[in-house]
Amino acid sequence: MERTKINILEGMDHSLGRVLVKGWVRTRRDAGKFSFMEINDGSSLKNIQVIANEDLGNYPDIQKITTGTSLAVEGEMVASPGKGQKWEIQADHVDIIDIAPDTYPLQKKRHSDEFLRTIAHLRPRTNKYGAAFRIRSEMCYAIHKFYRDKGFRYLTSPLITGSDCEGAGELFRVTSLDPAEVAKQGKMDFARDFFGQESNLTVSGQLSAEMFALALGDVYTFGPTFRAENSNTSRHAAEFWMLEPEMAFCDLQGNMDHGEELVKTLVAHAMDNCEEDLALFSKFVDKGLPKLMDTIIHQEFQRLTYAEAIDILEKSKKKFEFKVEYGVDLQSEHERFLAEEHFQKPVFLIDYPREIKPFYMRMNDDGKTVAAMDLLVPRIGELIGGSQREERLDRLETRMEEMNLPRDPYWWYLDSRRYGSVPHSGFGMGFERFLMMITGISNIRDVIPFPRTPGSIDF
Ligand code: 4AD
Ligand code: MG
Repeated sequence: MERTKINILEGMDHSLGRVLVKGWVRTRRDAGKFSFMEINDGSSLKNIQVIANEDLGNYPDIQKITTGTSLAVEGEMVASPGKGQKWEIQADHVDIIDIAPDTYPLQKKRHSDEFLRTIAHLRPRTNKYGAAFRIRSEMCYAIHKFYRDKGFRYLTSPLITGSDCEGAGELFRVTSLDPAEVAKQGKMDFARDFFGQESNLTVSGQLSAEMFALALGDVYTFGPTFRAENSNTSRHAAEFWMLEPEMAFCDLQGNMDHGEELVKTLVAHAMDNCEEDLALFSKFVDKGLPKLMDTIIHQEFQRLTYAEAIDILEKSKKKFEFKVEYGVDLQSEHERFLAEEHFQKPVFLIDYPREIKPFYMRMNDDGKTVAAMDLLVPRIGELIGGSQREERLDRLETRMEEMNLPRDPYWWYLDSRRYGSVPHSGFGMGFERFLMMITGISNIRDVIPFPRTPGSIDF
């Protein structure tokens, strides 16, 4: 008999008759001639109640079953007379696969997120993390579905590159040289290294995506991204996933329209497909989630310039830790103030000063600002960072010179502006930040299966 998933059982409006369920015991208690067990198989938040009666041949063993024990149960699915569940299973066969000793760390009590991080290999077995990672899985699918439905092509961009797209120098180096040898020589000889030059893990797939947008039209990348940003914040990870659409013949307005449609569609998808798991988060993690999701889906996102935002921040009575004035990079406290308190909805900021943005952004006619756009959302701050790209070869070259960027490594990038260049735009959305927004989870470490942050590479 095939294993029957618990989420199928719970959704049934008629009994499936005899079923086979395999899973892990969450709790067990004895009452009279029966042993009651709550089994979870990870298919949903719900457990299924299994009742074993004392006539079963291995009843003495069943009474030794502990939390965490793995089982295969065969029995009749019957309507449950008890409260809290629709169905239960009257077991006629309980096959104990592996008894968990009482050192099993996930006993029936509330554990702190900090503690659960130290057992990241076991935490998906808890209600909260099971729900978080089912949502994560569903949202990966939702992203691919959104782009498939819109006719975008999926580009798998390289993870090892020779460039630093963002120019922030937050690179993890890739080398096959022996550190001991390098130490002996007193310097890195890149010519002798695997690729014959400096190389690193990618900080963004954008430059590749641009090349493909200028060939296939609309494309997106969705994959891991690496940044050696030594900021130990609740919103930065060293390894995170980024979604990067890139659209040919698209300007900054089109880019914002696309970002807004994406975020609205993904949130609606979560509400339609992760209802039960999301309910856990709005009940136990953040009661404001339903309202936020409603706002995201139904209200038009605010759009304003960086200069206008600075003005609002300067005029606000709010005490910020970091001072705001025209020209500074906004801190998360500023971003959150705008989205959370001032506008109380997602906000696009555009036209940032050129000095605080990367080389590839399109210069505006004022010669001072670039066609950048960030999407700021309540609780998170920056969810999306993007721009219209500089498609004019001469402007791009001038800008690279100003920023002291060597031209040689970018010869291929410049080529794209030489042969049939067109206006194009795109952005990056931090996938974990999106998950934090819809679950209310406040630390990025808790939406990543095995998080990598400064000083932490366990598991
Ligand atoms: O704003 P960023 O740096 O933009 C880029 O990398 C562009 N090349 C993207 C593009 O235009 N194709 O990063 C994009 C988003 C941020 O808005 C944020 O949500 C997320 O990626 N992000 C991080 N998420 C987790 N941990 C980090 N260290 C992150 N750094 C950026
Ligand atoms: Mg950014």
